[in-house]
Amino acid sequence: MLKVLNREIKEIINTYPEVGRILEEYGIGCVPCTVGSCLLKDVVGIHNLGPQKEATLMYRIEKAIYPDRKISEPVVDMTTQSAPKKITYSPPVKKLVDEHVLIKRLLALIPSIAEYTESSLRVDKNLILSCVDFIRTYADKYHHMKEEDILFKYVDEKAEIIQVMYKDHDTGRGYVRQAVEGAEKNNKTQVKENLLAYRDLLTQHIKKEDEILYPWIDRQLSTTQVGEMFRKCNAADASVGDELPKKYEKFIIELEEKFLQEVTK
Ligand SMILES: [Fe+2]
Ligand SMILES: [Fe+2]
Repeated sequence: MLKVLNREIKEIINTYPEVGRILEEYGIGCVPCTVGSCLLKDVVGIHNLGPQKEATLMYRIEKAIYPDRKISEPVVDMTTQSAPKKITYSPPVKKLVDEHVLIKRLLALIPSIAEYTESSLRVDKNLILSCVDFIRTYADKYHHMKEEDILFKYVDEKAEIIQVMYKDHDTGRGYVRQAVEGAEKNNKTQVKENLLAYRDLLTQHIKKEDEILYPWIDRQLSTTQVGEMFRKCNAADASVGDELPKKYEKFIIELEEKFLQEVTK
């Protein structure tokens, strides 16, 4: 089993498709992942299932790979089995989770903005560029930069999961560039498709960060590192000033007033 633990997950799933189905049952989405070069041991470790669930998962994987081998079933403790997994974040990481909330409020409005763009005679360039300003300044400069310049530096940046996060940030920037180009050229389809693609990408990205990446990073940090990271994040926030998050929260509130009212009309 030790040998298998050190093999790449995509290779294991290709050879033993049942393993992919088992992982999906545990909410571990390795099958749709395009990269798949994480090692099986990291895939299981990163998801922090708890000792009971992890033992059962490993037992089932081992059974799927070696059906003829005699493997003893793990003893299941019913008192801990159903306890829901609660994620607690360190203070600097919690701040990043809170910033996701404002970004998700924009993502929730994108379908209405796309519909409005479709039904308008011309692309509302001011509206699109103001959303782009939120994405570029708040989501990218204020939030993603703290991840890239501070948070990711505390773990192995070559780790697959970090590389996937960098790639998502870059793909998002590409969609935004395309949406701006669409607004400049009055191309409604280009604006709509790229905003919707950005929404899908960031929705998944934030979910991965909140549920998997951030807890995984937090588990590796010492108390001293948490304190140091908190100071660095606060310094980064102070360098842009208090007004920036307030300005963009106000922008989202106004956008919600415009679009949520239209939805309920
Ligand atoms: Fe991110
Ligand atoms: Fe994030």
